[in-house]
Amino acid sequence: MTNDLYAVVGHPISHSKSPRIHSLFACQTGEALEYTAIQAPLDGFEATVAQFFERGGGGLNVTVPFKEQAWQMAQRRTERAQKAGAANTLYLDEDGRLTADNTDGQGLVSDLCGNHGVELAGANILVLGAGGAVRGVLAPLLAAKPAALTIANRTLAKAEALLALFAPDAGATRLSACGFDAPDRPYDLIINGTSASLQGDLPPLSPSVIDNRTVVYDMMYAASETTFNQWARERGAQQTIDGLGMLVEQAAESFRVWRGIKPVTAPVIAELRD
Ligand code: ATR
Repeated sequence: MTNDLYAVVGHPISHSKSPRIHSLFACQTGEALEYTAIQAPLDGFEATVAQFFERGGGGLNVTVPFKEQAWQMAQRRTERAQKAGAANTLYLDEDGRLTADNTDGQGLVSDLCGNHGVELAGANILVLGAGGAVRGVLAPLLAAKPAALTIANRTLAKAEALLALFAPDAGATRLSACGFDAPDRPYDLIINGTSASLQGDLPPLSPSVIDNRTVVYDMMYAASETTFNQWARERGAQQTIDGLGMLVEQAAESFRVWRGIKPVTAPVIAELRD
């Protein structure tokens, strides 16, 4: 193995689009690298990572259900990984220390602002969910200086815990936490970071959170429109966006961390949509 070998580790992993995305990046940038998918045993993540790097691998992406474990086992964490409490990117630093990074939040913000022209500064944002996925994106969202950011979750205590954790990052943004029953006015942007759609569920929100200026972003993606985006579109949202762009953007940021070159994402997103 050489340090031109990269991989995504998860369980299950066969559905992962990451090998295709990174192969497209490698072709586009002329970087000679190989990127594979590794299914680690549920009780064997750390051993899988250790073996990969002992054999000279260059970097790993980490996906469900190992992102928190990746964060815990790292000897060093970037600032954004520290705040996210989870890692989707691992590499060895110049001193050989296992380093955890998290590019998910950057991926979301790049997709929203760069690919879809959404203005975050001054916006009134509703974020649904308070699990690992939401924790991973709050710091970059707050860094974009929205006027207000409300975290709504089924379990209020988890939204309140995130509020306490991110209050020091809020600056002038009004940061608040609530249950799904509280929001009752239109938002500029609603981001669904719950895993409700995996069970075919919808967060029980008032339809009044959407008007014809609301942009809706579902961090999930699927071959067909997500349940949440369908609900939002039928209620007249201005625009509904799924998480495919975020997936490609977080991959591009990992590629940049490893190789020092940022791939152009638009053609890769277009190819995956086909
Ligand atoms: P992830 O890493 O994907 O964020 P997680 O940490 O388990 O996974 O968090 C899942 C999130 O989706 C939580 O906010 C969860 O709400 P609770 O904190 O109340 O459990 C939310 N969620 C999962 N299923 C849901 C459903 N059917 N309706 C609404 N919210 C749901």
